[in-house]
Amino acid sequence: MAERKIKVRVNESHRYGDLKVHDQVKFDVYENEFLCVCGQSGCGKTTLLDILSGLQKPTEGEVLIDGKPVDPKKQNISFVFQEPSNLPWLTLWENVATGLRIKKYPADQIRSIVDDIIGVVGLRGYEKYYPHQISGGMKQRVAIARAFATDADVILMDEPFVSLDQHTREKMQQEILNIWEHRKRTVIFVTHNLEEAVFLGDRVVILSNKPASVKDTITIDLPRPRDVLSPQLNALRIRCSTSLNETRLATA
Ligand SMILES: Nc1ncnc2c1ncn2[C@@H]1O[C@H](COP(=O)(O)OP(=O)(O)O)[C@@H](O)[C@H]1O
Ligand SMILES: [Mg+2]
Repeated sequence: MAERKIKVRVNESHRYGDLKVHDQVKFDVYENEFLCVCGQSGCGKTTLLDILSGLQKPTEGEVLIDGKPVDPKKQNISFVFQEPSNLPWLTLWENVATGLRIKKYPADQIRSIVDDIIGVVGLRGYEKYYPHQISGGMKQRVAIARAFATDADVILMDEPFVSLDQHTREKMQQEILNIWEHRKRTVIFVTHNLEEAVFLGDRVVILSNKPASVKDTITIDLPRPRDVLSPQLNALRIRCSTSLNETRLATA
């Protein structure tokens, strides 16, 4: 197999005052990989994303993107939060275009990218709606479309489907894979839901409880599109679950 390019290199420890949250969190992310990061609530997943985005500097160590220390001014880092963040005074179309406008893409290019991506996430026909006129799932689709629209070095997602109902969540999981297949980007997707992680990820990184370190990295070597009900996927979910439960027992 050809050597894969490492896009992101994480090697850091972090504390908030006396609270040690990360203890040598160390892993790599390949270019255009869909990497899921799983860990118990409170283990430091959001902190990890803050560090990955450059918003928070780790107490020790660093994050490298393309071999250079992360710097949101130099690299293009997109974030999708737990709660969808749309600009309420802009239409859905304008919301998707925001990142491209900030990056000063030419108008005709913005038009073609936004029109294309709106189709991929299934929002065609809603372009003129405002955020208050659409559902939570649609708002999150807008946030995801915006993240994928620009030429992001890395897209960080913090449990983006956690507040959606089961049906919408399953649809969104499929849609996020569609958009990722369509516009390949390096994605780091945080979730505490293992079904979601093994369905979406090329690999799943399991974090131990606080102070977190990488407990396991499990490769999900199943072809896409994946069948959620397949015994192979279930076996990998159980492997992840066993690993995650060991971290729970270790701190009980
Ligand atoms: N800005 C902060 N200042 C102090 N403690 C924090 C801060 N942010 C998070 N924490 C603490 O760090 C730990 C990890 O939090 P967080 O990264 O939000 O975990 P997760 O996203 O996995 O639930 C928690 O104990 C939380 O209370
Ligand atoms: Mg969190």
